[in-house]
Amino acid sequence: MKICLITSECEPYVKTGGLADVCGSLPPALSNFGAEIKVFLPLYGIINREKFIIKPVSGIKQVSLKLGEKEFKFSVYNCKHTDGKTEVYFIECAGLYDRDSIYTQDSDEDERFILFQYAVFLTLQNLQWAPDVFHCNDWQSGLIPALLKLKFNRDKLFTSAATVLSIHNIGYQGIFGKESIYKANFPESSFVLGGPFEYNGNTNFLKAGIWYADLITTVSKTYAEEIQTSEYGSGLDGVLKSRSDNIAGILNGIDNNLWNPVTDNLISENYGIDNIRLKEKNKVELLELAGLRYSEHIPVYGIVSRFAWQKGFELFFDTIDEILDNNIQLIVLGSGEEHYEDFFLKVSLQYSDKVYVRFGFDNRFAHLITAGSDFFVMPSRYEPCGLNQMYSLNYGTIPIVRKTGGLADTVIDFGNNESGNGIVFDDFLPEQLLVSMKRAEELFIDKPLFDKVRRSGMSADFSWERSALQYMNIYNKVKKPVSGT
Ligand code: ADP
Ligand code: GLC
Repeated sequence: MKICLITSECEPYVKTGGLADVCGSLPPALSNFGAEIKVFLPLYGIINREKFIIKPVSGIKQVSLKLGEKEFKFSVYNCKHTDGKTEVYFIECAGLYDRDSIYTQDSDEDERFILFQYAVFLTLQNLQWAPDVFHCNDWQSGLIPALLKLKFNRDKLFTSAATVLSIHNIGYQGIFGKESIYKANFPESSFVLGGPFEYNGNTNFLKAGIWYADLITTVSKTYAEEIQTSEYGSGLDGVLKSRSDNIAGILNGIDNNLWNPVTDNLISENYGIDNIRLKEKNKVELLELAGLRYSEHIPVYGIVSRFAWQKGFELFFDTIDEILDNNIQLIVLGSGEEHYEDFFLKVSLQYSDKVYVRFGFDNRFAHLITAGSDFFVMPSRYEPCGLNQMYSLNYGTIPIVRKTGGLADTVIDFGNNESGNGIVFDDFLPEQLLVSMKRAEELFIDKPLFDKVRRSGMSADFSWERSALQYMNIYNKVKKPVSGT
């Protein structure tokens, strides 16, 4: 089984969120099932070529590509992935990818990912490598199924290729003006009202992917249902419903080599279910780094997150004073939209003896918060899968989550179930967060129950194996017979 996995982020090369974790760890899990994988990524200027030994691929240099009226030139680089088997190909086009961040608001954002997707096909043609499945991820590779069906369908190399589109987040769709259709070299006639590319008069890359992909997956069973409703579908629920027979929810796994308290070398003390008491040493170091007083009697609540509307931090806005009126500590690591940063900064200044906030992206600190906190808070409005709650469960840090998407599929409230592993609230309401934070405090005092709940989390298995097997089944389902056989 040959898989071409196309993504805009991949660990360890470049990451802004969970998409990178998934695209970095799914390929090794798939290759354990015998799949042969090539991953494609843009070669963003911020990727460290020396560190990852990323080298030019001979013969694919300064390839010309005309998109609409503009002429581009791209080159291809590659390296071996962390498993030593998967090959990672990087599309280089400095004019497009050497920017301060990997996603931009620049006027050529559409061109950046149109070029990327064309370059995937041109590279495969050059390598004469015929994938059985193009596995696309989010809008940045949402045009691949359309390009395959409408532009590259005559090339024998691709006649037996199928497409799978994984939706990691329906909130980001790649919506651009109508002119994007020309930039992608599709004719005017393909821009039909209510058709595959059109969305409220604009071009929508994700919609085109949903329309043309042979199969659509998303990253949890609950989210697969949710996105087919108007509440969660971000305007694409209609088109998703029309394809409901071809939508599957596959929960993400977590990489046990990277997020495992027994071996994690980014935390101060390793521990496992058999020596959980060593976890406390991480709390001591976390608080020391945060400049807060350590006490075994004070519960620490951790947050590691992108600061985005999706993550639901508004629930703290009117409750924070009441929450911090109690004897608790809060440690936050995040980056993103300014008004959330302003809010947490204000809180940290006002409650400097209880709250520590760090802005920016800091992987080591993320690991330390996961290991050193007693509770981990994710009050998301929506959460396609969410990885942090699974990391927390693995680390014996009890998640407090809202019941949505992958959070609903992984966290079981301890009050309802003998094997409960966390605290879950149903509705996106400040008072429900407040009650959950209070329940956490009470749980923290009831040591036998607290211990039981966290052991329950630590004994769950979120490894990639099961999910990778489900992807293999999906690939086999969509795989087309090789022509001529
Ligand atoms: P999303 O992809 O929506 O951001 P996930 O829970 O799937 O949410 O994945 C987030 C990933 O990004 C996790 O690996 C998390 O630890 C990491 N992360 C998020 N914010 C930061 C940050 N500020 N510093 C370091 N890691 C972060
Ligand atoms: C998205 C989602 C997150 C999910 C991740 C990986 O960024 O917001 O819930 O875990 O993708 O699939």
